[in-house]
Amino acid sequence: MITVKTAAEIEAMREPCAITRDVLDLLGRSLREGMTTAELDRIAFEFIKDCGAEPAFLSYCGYPASTCISLDDMVVHGIPNEKQIIRPGAIVSIDVGAVKNGFVGDAARSFYIGEIAPEKKKLIDVTRECFFKAIEDLSEGSPLGDIGYRVQKHAEENGFSVVREMVGHGVGRKMHEDPSVPNYGKRGTGIRLKAGMTLAIEPMINMGERYVKFLADGWGVATKDGKPSAHYENTVLITGEGTEILTL
Ligand code: MF3
Ligand code: CO
Repeated sequence: MITVKTAAEIEAMREPCAITRDVLDLLGRSLREGMTTAELDRIAFEFIKDCGAEPAFLSYCGYPASTCISLDDMVVHGIPNEKQIIRPGAIVSIDVGAVKNGFVGDAARSFYIGEIAPEKKKLIDVTRECFFKAIEDLSEGSPLGDIGYRVQKHAEENGFSVVREMVGHGVGRKMHEDPSVPNYGKRGTGIRLKAGMTLAIEPMINMGERYVKFLADGWGVATKDGKPSAHYENTVLITGEGTEILTL
């Protein structure tokens, strides 16, 4: 069931979304060579708690951390780890969520430190651009399929590929609500968006082929060909005039 949020519910969602944005900004600023992904996860946990919120991912279906941190060929759902070190030139995709006022905010960014290969930098940039292309001209009445169409078009025009196995989603009182928001598809298809819908739009874009493999830890998703992947996500409110990005 797709939920349309009331004005009061939208107001309630602003705070967890702002905390999610702030924790990503903090993690981006905190990134240093040699630190572990587990250290980053602790920074996120403490910040979210200090905001009077709860980490949305911690204990979700048994997930053991507050963030997902996915390096290089990891697409999503990398579990932070004491042995995993941040190195210059790596793509560091961080996905995080916060719960407050009974609502969830969900967002992700791909970061890097130091010198990065130009093609990896381009992958990060194009993945972020895919998100902004997707919401360009989006508003009440737009077909849901336009989101995936635009993401796929921009990714493929740049020689990259779109992950199909994981998709964006409605977000609200629960992290995963209807509808599914694929990053591929046909223009003009799917349900019509309504003002008050809140969607997590999250392109996951690969440098090589689109295929992924699922890791033995039960969570991690990596590219099959071992080439890099990037992720960019925001919680987006559909309005009568357009969209409002709640996690930016
Ligand atoms: N943010 C992810 C998503 O968009 C969810 C992470 S899965 C978790 O679907 F289990 F780690 F929470
Ligand atoms: Co999400």
